Amino acid sequence: MRDFERDYDYTEAATDGEWRLPPGLRRALPYYARRRWVSFGEPIPLFEHLHKVFGKIAHYRFMGSTIVFVNDPAWINEILVNQSASFVRERTLKRMKILLGEGLITSDDPIHARRRRIAAPAFHRQSIAGYADQIVASANAAAGRWSAGDEIDISDEMMRLSLHIVAKTLFDSEVTADVLSVRDEVNTIMGLYNFLVAFPKLESVLHWPIPGVIRFRRSRARLDSLVAKMIAGRRALSHQQLEQRGDLLSTLMAARDEEAIGGGMSDTQLRDEVLTIFLAGYETVANALAWTWYLLSQNPEAANTMYAEVDQVLGHHAATMQSYPQLRYTEMVFAESMRLYPPAWAMGRQSTRPVELGPYRFPPNTHFFMSQYIMHRSPEFWEDPLSFRPKRHTPAAKAARPRFVYFPFGGGNRQCIGEGFAWMEGVLSLATIAQRWRLCFVPRHPVVAQARITLRPKFPLTMRVEASR
Ligand code: HEM
Repeated sequence: MRDFERDYDYTEAATDGEWRLPPGLRRALPYYARRRWVSFGEPIPLFEHLHKVFGKIAHYRFMGSTIVFVNDPAWINEILVNQSASFVRERTLKRMKILLGEGLITSDDPIHARRRRIAAPAFHRQSIAGYADQIVASANAAAGRWSAGDEIDISDEMMRLSLHIVAKTLFDSEVTADVLSVRDEVNTIMGLYNFLVAFPKLESVLHWPIPGVIRFRRSRARLDSLVAKMIAGRRALSHQQLEQRGDLLSTLMAARDEEAIGGGMSDTQLRDEVLTIFLAGYETVANALAWTWYLLSQNPEAANTMYAEVDQVLGHHAATMQSYPQLRYTEMVFAESMRLYPPAWAMGRQSTRPVELGPYRFPPNTHFFMSQYIMHRSPEFWEDPLSFRPKRHTPAAKAARPRFVYFPFGGGNRQCIGEGFAWMEGVLSLATIAQRWRLCFVPRHPVVAQARITLRPKFPLTMRVEASR
């Protein structure tokens, strides 16, 4: 096997008529895959090589498409913010339509802008403040299931926790058991999605009578009927009653778009949005929390500082919305964890018209990828990038660094709508669990990050539970 880094195959900037592409791989991706320099299943090594070899921008060809990989914060800003009107979401995520319909993640403007306007109030600071107690109660229940000396798989535990939180806050669910069973459906669907997404004619594949696809359809139907039940139960309520209920679904149902005729969302729109929020908010937070516990176990000094803060701010009292802003070091720990292991590890956009970045000019239908994983670990922007240092996220340090060197929640008009929620959920969950337990890593399996839709631990992360005081 030849070494890709020594023996990459590149072109100088490619000119083709009016288009000017940056340097990149001369041949299509399968050529490199056959030589095992890259692997389709593991995209991060490819991105790392391209970054190392080509620097801030590179292109390659795959299945007839031109793919541009952008590692420059100013150009990422161009794509996500300044020239965002020239892009739609890249097709890989858009194919989630088979599950999510036309929700926030899968829609493009003008539908997206309207959807965003209607959903925004449900995620305002005042709205999500009401969820703090539910988050703390769920984290306490999780911590209460463990005993000193237990060995737990922390990613599994954090998935349970974040699912519980999303079920409580989205539905205020009396039917938690129902929602918990959804987890299996979601896992089935996500597992198959990684496989199905490779098919060019995905929509027709979905009608095939093969076992995996039948399972996918069945899981999707069960999810649909569960959500339909939740919506139907609330249709009988008045606008005021909906507002009073306070769960996210009710808030969405009470939302009105003054500019649009008809105002609120139809059942189908609600279903699409609920599933979108459910999927976007569940695995991301769970992975961020799992990686944080692992990193704390490897960095005792940072862990001691965090535990001292939790002790000082909370003592034996349960965390609340009032204590949340005081848990500042805990928040920096969570931020630093998402630097090294960003749950959303890359983002994609597709151009709809000619686009210029610096000296380059790209045709419509070019695919652009930007990777948090690469930017967050770039030695150009981070001193000793692989070391875990929460102090990188003090307000002063944040103000001093360029936008899009650190962007776990994306940016521009599609920035994560749940960002405020995610910070609160992460910090309050960490602090609540830390009041009772320290978690020590038990090296039963290698620690490997696997890039799927989110960045997750490839093998179980086993942790031993020890009393924290
Ligand atoms: C640590 C946790 C989370 C991370 C790292 C994360 C990251 C992201 C990123 C990077 C995007 C933008 C993707 C793009 O522009 O292509 C996004 C979008 C989104 N996120 Fe999050 N997210 C998290 C938690 C949540 C939560 C808790 C919710 C809901 C409760 C949520 C709901 C959404 C939705 C609905 C979108 C689509 C927004 C749009 O396109 O307008 N996320 N998220």
